[in-house]
Amino acid sequence: MDLPDRVPELNARAGITLRPWRLSDQPLVRQASQDAYIPAITTVPRPYTEAEGAAFVRRQWERTATGGGYPFVIVDPGGRPVGNVGLWLKDPRRERASLGYWVAASGRGQGAAAAALAAVTDWAVHGLGIPRLELYVEPWNTASMRTAERSGFHRQGLLHRWSLIDGEHRDMVMYALHGSDLPQAPEEPPGTLDRP
Ligand SMILES: CC(C)(COP(=O)(O)OP(=O)(O)OC[C@H]1O[C@@H](n2cnc3c(N)ncnc32)[C@H](O)[C@@H]1OP(=O)(O)O)[C@@H](O)C(=O)NCCC(=O)NCCS
Repeated sequence: MDLPDRVPELNARAGITLRPWRLSDQPLVRQASQDAYIPAITTVPRPYTEAEGAAFVRRQWERTATGGGYPFVIVDPGGRPVGNVGLWLKDPRRERASLGYWVAASGRGQGAAAAALAAVTDWAVHGLGIPRLELYVEPWNTASMRTAERSGFHRQGLLHRWSLIDGEHRDMVMYALHGSDLPQAPEEPPGTLDRP
């Protein structure tokens, strides 16, 4: 199957929606740049400048254009952009892909990350046919582990010194989900907003 050349719009549960990044999302990048952790695990700039904020958005477009993956803005039920969830395609055979996510502080605790992760997971498995998805979480990060578990991911094990974060090789807990763990795809995928 050919991969889509753009990030689709998806419906998640509880009124959360997902869509491509826009230049007007720079205030979200600014908020994320003030977080103690998000810039350490992403390319969110720290310190923030308008030029760096725009470059961040353009990098997200570039990722899809070059086949690197699909970064989605998470939008809350009131229409406010609150975070990012990305599906990253490093395996050329597409037997597996990885996911990452963050929600800016003011949007947390409302189920946004879990709803967004579940929607992108469903799209990756049923829409793109990727059988196995993985994500990596630091052992102290209870909120992220709960987010993964809520979306059906299972803990696989501890990877010793797996990720370089803030100049330090850190242990990561690997979570994974196999497509067979999910309910069968409905005849028409429910999540996609931009069908004709
Ligand atoms: C992890 C993160 C994305 C969670 O975002 P969120 O939108 O607040 O999460 P949700 O509201 O969808 O909650 C998902 C689950 O995590 C739990 N949770 C959320 N924040 C929590 C916290 N601070 N402590 C413990 N559990 C927490 C929720 O209760 C929920 O679990 P439940 O369904 O069992 O109740 C957010 O805290 C964040 O962006 N952190 C910084 C970046 C980061 O760590 N990204 C992940 C890297 S692997």
